[in-house]
Amino acid sequence: MTMASAPGKVILFGEHAVVSGTPAIGGAIDLRARVTVQDMHGCLLIESGDLTLQGFTFDLISGQVISAGAAIATRYISAVLKELEACNLRITVQSDLLPASGLGSSAAIVVATAAALNAHLDLCLSLKEIASLSHKIEKSVQQGLGSPMDTALATFGGYLQVSGVVEALDLPPLDLAVGCTRRPHDTRSEVLKVQTLRKRYPELVEPIFQAIGAISKRAVPLIREQRLEEVGELMNINHGLLEGLGVGTRDLGELVYAARGSGGAMGAKITGAGGGGCMIALPGLNSEAALIASLRQAGGAAFSVRTGCEGVRLEEGP
Ligand code: MEV
Repeated sequence: MTMASAPGKVILFGEHAVVSGTPAIGGAIDLRARVTVQDMHGCLLIESGDLTLQGFTFDLISGQVISAGAAIATRYISAVLKELEACNLRITVQSDLLPASGLGSSAAIVVATAAALNAHLDLCLSLKEIASLSHKIEKSVQQGLGSPMDTALATFGGYLQVSGVVEALDLPPLDLAVGCTRRPHDTRSEVLKVQTLRKRYPELVEPIFQAIGAISKRAVPLIREQRLEEVGELMNINHGLLEGLGVGTRDLGELVYAARGSGGAMGAKITGAGGGGCMIALPGLNSEAALIASLRQAGGAAFSVRTGCEGVRLEEGP
């Protein structure tokens, strides 16, 4: 039996504008997907543990109730198995990450599956090869869409800057609160919506993209020097620009204002594609508990995360 785990991620700054080439910064978080591979002759079985989130479907052929999370996980794992021509196996997946919420759940599952198969089948893939294979697989399941950010963070961990090329950033950990609307989002349709706006109003949207890119650049030394008040201000400006691009929702806005108000956050913004999914907030001094309570009171699922965590790794079996 071989087990591997890989982290989810948050985008700190730069989402959407990154699609047009300006920099975005993301950090791996301390919530992980775990994939176990076991030999099972004459069979190829995918089992999911606690992925019972965000609705379910009823499979008329097998008579099974399948959670939306399990259905998504199965699609990505099947794609990895196909790519690596693996068979005669039982694959089990568990994840701390809400699916379709902008926390890199699919990338973590793809990377953990690739790493577990790599070790179990002695494929001798390097980390770089796992990252690039995983990006290719994630992109193909998402019909050609997706930056390399999520799969690279799931593989290498830490922090990355993406702007055409992927660069590792050496930054200290940040403790953040995540507020989740519980509404799954569709990254593809949010990206297409923003790109349509850009085509219609290039003279308005291009400067927004440039401003978002400038925020990412300003943020790097501020995070490095732990100037958190200014990091919070940049989060607030970035959120306003994302609202301008039309990816805010009432639920996300309520979580952002709850975080900045009674939650005492130094800054708060959407993370990921928007249109649902999650926001992040930077707690004020000694206010993490109040922040989580405010996010829950505003109707969100809320939890603390630490950024800059370890990438994919092999785990001791259960
Ligand atoms: C989604 O997590 C981030 C976007 O910028 C899309 C991407 O970079 O692929 C909206």
